[in-house]
Amino acid sequence: MNNKIIVAGIGPGGEDYITPAALKKIRAAKFLVGGRRALGEFSNPNQITCAITADLDAPINFIREKILLDEVVVMVSGDPGYYSMLDLLRKNFPPDSIEVIPSISAMQLAFAKIALSWHDATLLSFHGRQPAREALQFSTGKILGLLTDAEFNSATISELLMNCGWDKNSSVTICARLSYPDEKILTTTLAAAAQSEPVKHCILIVK
Ligand SMILES: C[S@@+](CC[C@H](N)C(=O)[O-])C[C@H]1O[C@@H](n2cnc3c(N)ncnc32)[C@H](O)[C@@H]1O
Repeated sequence: MNNKIIVAGIGPGGEDYITPAALKKIRAAKFLVGGRRALGEFSNPNQITCAITADLDAPINFIREKILLDEVVVMVSGDPGYYSMLDLLRKNFPPDSIEVIPSISAMQLAFAKIALSWHDATLLSFHGRQPAREALQFSTGKILGLLTDAEFNSATISELLMNCGWDKNSSVTICARLSYPDEKILTTTLAAAAQSEPVKHCILIVK
């Protein structure tokens, strides 16, 4: 198998945040895999595409078949090295057949939005998983950056953190739809966020 699987990060979503390197590969692709939104935004009618849905066997089988003919470009949101389909691809294909084009993670953009360094932050994901409780425990000076999903959202996670020793007045910044025209960033307290309408699939920065 000489053709490569190109895993191209497309950034947090807005067109200003995709890199020229990813865009070049995506535009030149004969075979393109991605979520429906990404395909709607970046594919063209000449490309043969496969949507990533809950049925993850479909894109894997598509890649297995098409890679015999040409490169296959797989679009993933944010950075491929940070909670993406890259792990699944590595389980199904030899690592040396995969080329990764890095991109801007939604987590990076969230920290940038509040002009805060993330080198000392504890970055954890609630997206389809739950971090170990010890990792969530409060300690002085701790900064959390959290990926969320529908179930573990701004309200449920705020409640959980107060049960992990965080003060009810701790600051939580809720970053939703980052890089899109309807981006929303709100800084409030854990107590208020726990009582408010849940924001899903966002990033939380807690300190
Ligand atoms: C499976 S993770 C993908 C992370 C991605 N690889 C990255 O580097 O940004 C999906 C989660 O990322 C976060 N996310 C992705 N895009 C976002 C955006 N534009 N605004 C806010 N959060 C976003 C949400 O927490 C979402 O549930």
